[in-house]
Amino acid sequence: MKIAKNIKELNIYSGTNQVIGFVPTMGSLHEGHFLLVKEAILETSLTVVSIFVNPTQFNDSNDLKNYPRNIENDLFRLNLILREKDIVFIPDEKEIYPKPDTRTYNFGHLDKIMEGRNRPGHFNGVGQVVSKLFQIVKPSYAFFGEKDLQQLAVVRKLVQMLKIPIIIIGIPIVREADGLAMSSRNQLLGKNERAEVPKIFKALTEATRLKGINTVDEVRYKTIKEINKSQLLFVEYFEIVDEINLLPIKNWDINTGIFGCIAVKVGKIRLIDNIRF
Ligand code: PAF
Repeated sequence: MKIAKNIKELNIYSGTNQVIGFVPTMGSLHEGHFLLVKEAILETSLTVVSIFVNPTQFNDSNDLKNYPRNIENDLFRLNLILREKDIVFIPDEKEIYPKPDTRTYNFGHLDKIMEGRNRPGHFNGVGQVVSKLFQIVKPSYAFFGEKDLQQLAVVRKLVQMLKIPIIIIGIPIVREADGLAMSSRNQLLGKNERAEVPKIFKALTEATRLKGINTVDEVRYKTIKEINKSQLLFVEYFEIVDEINLLPIKNWDINTGIFGCIAVKVGKIRLIDNIRF
């Protein structure tokens, strides 16, 4: 694989006439990321993986400071998967933001619910960096994990609003053996916290079983109550939403897919997850 540290190097390595599959990441890569990379390799002639911890999407400076960074390990693992011609793009901040990015996006209700409500400005920052990276990398396809379901919806809205001709592909969540959704933030969990967090997926799975037995409100209430029984877990939100608009549903009888989306505080760490009903 090639390592491009700036746009000039990226352009030299990527050449022309390639069908580029792009996997944007913030590093600290795990099996969830590697699944995106493998899909990109299968579907396209050149894969570009970016590693850039984007400051504009962090609404909490401590979160940005503590975000795990493991560049050596990331490159080692990527080298085992990527082909000779594929590229890892590791720009520094000046390369992406030569001047402060003041663009604001109107994602409608999408950045006001769930993650948007709890992390003001987060999705605007995601929009800024993703649109910049799309402009630089010029992919035909871009791959995003379904763990960040709302981010996926925001990115789809972004390409639609800005008329960017890129196909956005969502890739299913990868889980640890005990059900915990893979996330770079998992490595920040203490030992006791790590032992508790599988309760999140367990409760989500139970919620899907209760569909049809209980009302939507009852399932929501029971799930939150079950997780909050743990001394170490605190549910920030659990919303049962329709697949298209990610808006809360009132009853099960709707024509689209249904997802349960959750954010849980575990000490100072915040985990998100979701499940299809
Ligand atoms: O999902 C992430 O890791 C980030 O939000 C992304 C898409 C790489 C943008 O910084």
